[in-house]
Amino acid sequence: MGRRAGPPVAWGERVIEIPLVDLRAQHEQVADEVADGWAEVLKTTAFINGPQVARFESEFAAYQEVPHAIGVGNGTDAIELALRALGVGHGDEVVLPANTFIATAEAVARCGATPVLVDCVDDTLLIDASQVSSAVTSRTKAVVPVHLYGQAAPVELITGVPVVEDAAQAQGARRNGVAVGGLGVAAATSFYPGKNLGAYGDSGAVLTTSDAIAESVKLLREHGSPRKYEHPVLGFNSRLDTLQAVVLSAKLRRLEAWNQARRAAAARYTEMLADVERVRVPVVLDGNLPVWHLYVVRVPDRDRVLSSLHAAGIGAGIHYPTPLHKTGAFGHLGGSFPVAEQSAAELLSLPLFPEITESQQTRVVEALTEALND
Ligand SMILES: Cc1ncc(COP(=O)(O)O)c(C=O)c1O
Repeated sequence: MGRRAGPPVAWGERVIEIPLVDLRAQHEQVADEVADGWAEVLKTTAFINGPQVARFESEFAAYQEVPHAIGVGNGTDAIELALRALGVGHGDEVVLPANTFIATAEAVARCGATPVLVDCVDDTLLIDASQVSSAVTSRTKAVVPVHLYGQAAPVELITGVPVVEDAAQAQGARRNGVAVGGLGVAAATSFYPGKNLGAYGDSGAVLTTSDAIAESVKLLREHGSPRKYEHPVLGFNSRLDTLQAVVLSAKLRRLEAWNQARRAAAARYTEMLADVERVRVPVVLDGNLPVWHLYVVRVPDRDRVLSSLHAAGIGAGIHYPTPLHKTGAFGHLGGSFPVAEQSAAELLSLPLFPEITESQQTRVVEALTEALND
């Protein structure tokens, strides 16, 4: 596997020597395969619903160990279509954590349903399953736990309500030996370029063990149409492009090795940071095999530390700076979620990608230690 880091990239005025994610290093490994695959698509011009889409869907379903993977336009659509396939609509409620990317709540709102937020657990930052039962009402149609940063939420603790997993950040992760995607009735994932399995544009997929949900999502993604110009239900245009399917198949063959490299890099960070004071390293929940989409530490005075890292050429980031109930889009939901609020002020994502080298990680840790001691 290539170990060469990409050239430095500009971040405003500054030059970032170690990026948060290095997509060029991944592309180098699949470039020939993608070029050949794209040449084939260009020759046949089957840009929509080409045979490469169904091929990728069956490869991905096999990888995630579920019977169905249905490619869609992006991860947000994947959540929405999975919820709609479950019958979620106007007047319904869907429970989800306050500390997630906004898309989880957007998808619920786009179904016409109301997002009902719960807090996360302080050590793992995964949904606090103990709060879910008190958030459930007679209107609750689903819970959407988020497999945040690449580790599975404790889905088995959520009972009595259908679970749609938000697996956007967790392709290949496992909980108690079961691959994500098979922990609830359905799951949604994103192939946004920076994800563990990333396309060269937007795309996503619904995973499910249910034949009925799979059939419904297939209709919904294709204008509600089982056959050309038959539209028994109102649908959407949300398909996985053939060109993206080619990229995803090429990358899927390497995903297990890439996830393993992420695990090794995460273990190195945890070891390197063990003696650095005032840094909280990520905690893995018992029973989880994470895929480390992000390596998120918690530090005091985070904004100053982040600026120092950027000044030192380190492309650290924040996932996410604002809990949903503090955003303009979802502020009307109100509520108080102390763990989500406190952690949002402390979170700091360190550069992590399969090809990151030990010397790059050493530099990150040195820069972080300096920033904390300033
Ligand atoms: C947790 C989570 N949910 C949903 C999404 C939405 O995916 P997309 O950007 O493909 O719509 C993302 C990623 O962007 C995400 O990280």
